[in-house]
Parts: sequence; C-alpha cells; structure tokens
Amino acid sequence: MKCIEIIITSTNTEIDINCESTKIKQVFINLIKNAIDAMENNGEIRIIIDKVSDHIQVRVIDQGAGIPQELLMKIGEPFYTTKEKGTGLGLMVCYQIIEKHEGTIHVDSKVGVGTTFTITFPIPKAT
Ligand SMILES: Nc1ncnc2c1ncn2[C@@H]1O[C@H](COP(=O)(O)OP(=O)(O)O)[C@@H](O)[C@H]1O
Ligand SMILES: [Mg+2]
Repeated sequence: MKCIEIIITSTNTEIDINCESTKIKQVFINLIKNAIDAMENNGEIRIIIDKVSDHIQVRVIDQGAGIPQELLMKIGEPFYTTKEKGTGLGLMVCYQIIEKHEGTIHVDSKVGVGTTFTITFPIPKAT
C-alpha cells in the first residue's frame, strides 16, 4: 500500500547464528512492520548485517517519524502503543525472543529523521 523499498546489505557473504528461525523471523516481521507504519508513503528501510567483534549485528533503519526522547523508555513495554489499532505487544515479544537468544536489542531515534533498531546475536562457538 506504500511505496517503500527494503534494502538488505551484508558485509559478510555468509553468517550463521544459532536460533529458532521462526522466532527470529517474527522479530524481523515486527520490526519491519513498525518501520513501515512509521513511514509516509515512500522511502526506504535499510537492513544492514555486520560482524562486529564477537557478535553479529543487524540494524533495521527507517526514515519514519521517529520516537521522542521521553518515550524511548516506553519502547518494549507491554501495551504501549501510539496506534489506533495497535496492540503494543510486538516489541515486547521481540525483546523476549532476542533475550532468549542471548542477544541484545537497542533503539536509537530522532524525531523527523528516523529510527534504528540494532540487534546483536552471539556468534556460535566453533565445535
Ligand atoms: N520504527 C518505529 N518508528 C517509530 N515508532 C515506533 C517504531 N517502532 C515502534 N514504535 C513505537 O512503539 C510502539 C509500540 O510498538 P509495538 O510494540 O510493535 O506495538 P504496535 O505496533 O502494536 O503499536 C508503536 O506504537 C510506536 O509508537
Ligand atoms: Mg508493532
């Protein structure tokens, strides 16, 4: 319904992590849907995958409305939503799933510029 481009880039050709793939898919669906919701009718969402020291980092970067500084702390709280038909559960689920994978999730945002969700995963130990 919108004209939004999703661009995925990775600095490494192949990166493996240990995960429950359906859950991780859920995380990215939630983040990308939020990014689309936050954006007007056009723009781009960039997904950048990097290997950073001892973990894998995935950034979901949008050009949406952004989140005011004073509301950033509410992000991930159950039932916190600014949408008429929102549930306020998407991010809570994302936080839970990432925590179970021993990863981290962090949000940076600037009103009028956009929002970046940064997720990290541990690199599996070689066996
Ligand atoms: N990428 C984003 N840009 C701006 N605001 C966001 C973004 N992601 C989440 N939010 C804010 O966080 C709230 C909670 O998100 P979420 O837990 O997914 O619930 P919902 O999408 O049902 O509102 C959203 O209502 C919105 O205000
Ligand atoms: Mg959501």
